[in-house]
Amino acid sequence: MEQPVINIGIMGVGNIGTGVARILLTERELLASRSGIRFNLKTVVDTDWERDRGVDFTGVKMGTDAAEIINDPGIDIVIETIGGYEPAFTYVMQALANGKHVITANKALLATRGRELFSQARAHGVDILFEASVGGGIPVIMGLREGLVANRILGIYGIVNGTSNYILSRMHQDNMDFAEALREAQAKGFAEADPTLDINGVDAAHKLAILASLAFGGLVNFDRIPVEGITGVTPLDINYAKSFGYVIKLLAICRFIGGKADLRVHPTLVPEEHLLAAVNNELNAVFITGDLVGNTMFYGPGAGQDPTASAVVSDIVDLARNMLARPRGECFSCLSMDPEKDVPLLPLDEVTNRFYLRLYTLDQPGILARISGVLGENKISISSVVQLETHGEKDFVPIVLLTHEAPEHALNKALMQLREFAFIRPDILRLRLFHA
Ligand code: HSE
Repeated sequence: MEQPVINIGIMGVGNIGTGVARILLTERELLASRSGIRFNLKTVVDTDWERDRGVDFTGVKMGTDAAEIINDPGIDIVIETIGGYEPAFTYVMQALANGKHVITANKALLATRGRELFSQARAHGVDILFEASVGGGIPVIMGLREGLVANRILGIYGIVNGTSNYILSRMHQDNMDFAEALREAQAKGFAEADPTLDINGVDAAHKLAILASLAFGGLVNFDRIPVEGITGVTPLDINYAKSFGYVIKLLAICRFIGGKADLRVHPTLVPEEHLLAAVNNELNAVFITGDLVGNTMFYGPGAGQDPTASAVVSDIVDLARNMLARPRGECFSCLSMDPEKDVPLLPLDEVTNRFYLRLYTLDQPGILARISGVLGENKISISSVVQLETHGEKDFVPIVLLTHEAPEHALNKALMQLREFAFIRPDILRLRLFHA
């Protein structure tokens, strides 16, 4: 029997686009035998063809204008691997308007412009798939949307930024300093073009917005996600956390409480016996708790050419199967990313957490009593205090405290009061402890 043919165009032949092209061109037979469909890479466009990609593009039209894909009636699926906001957004909107299905790895675009994208897809009866946008090669989107379809999702805890995980792991395991570990992560190609987004938590928040949207079936207002990155974490904090039995990880957290989503990204003290504590270097993991399945963890490479391209190709096959099995006219991904539904957010102030506080104070009598007095007035109970003996420190010395569970608003008030004391340096670090 003759196999149906699906024609594909790739916009943006950079690191990921090149990987996708290579798989489509070299694994044609494997993909055809596994799916019963022939995937034909028809056109690739990029603004720069000077650079050798190490791919033999014989038989593929190589252009420089996205219109060659967007306006080609023969192309069924458009892959967007340009990255960034523009022109990627405009091109994707045009492709959808022209009745083309789109596959993208662009988490920033999905997290911030998702409503417009999915509305456009629904209006034109086409789909947007985005497996590669979270966790690189890990099939976590498919896992959430299909494998866990019968579950109400109770919680998601993700290590979804390889660069920050690499930095924290190297600091924890090798006592490396932050700057050196960041340089290594950049050299290995995990970091975003602008690594600020990796270390300030925004990249992880983009991915969290996508996961939370899928878990709820609506869209998250990205600007309302509280985000803290890892730049304030010092080797001293890593070592104190270690001495308490914790590993510091940048977690993207989504918990559903009373119908609302508690969403946040911040460095978190994870107990060293938890599975997430063992996720090191550039690897990613997403720990998902469903009401039926219980705890699951999706683990693997969260970045890199081949893993990310592997995820894009899985979307191509998934989409093509849907296209052939069902009549045109429905946006299936809009069922789980409904542009008309908002994910209701629980304000962070209303959340309860355990905290790690690191303060530098003058080493004088009565200071610890003043600090615990402020915490006590705000009904925050201390569970551990450590002030290691320091030799030759004339000025400020570190004190580290762990608290029992306390509301965020109480801790914020206590921090404001502590910052008023002249005997405490203003750079107080507040971290949170993992809880399910
Ligand atoms: N910069 C990202 C990371 C790459 O470090 O995980 C994949 O999104």
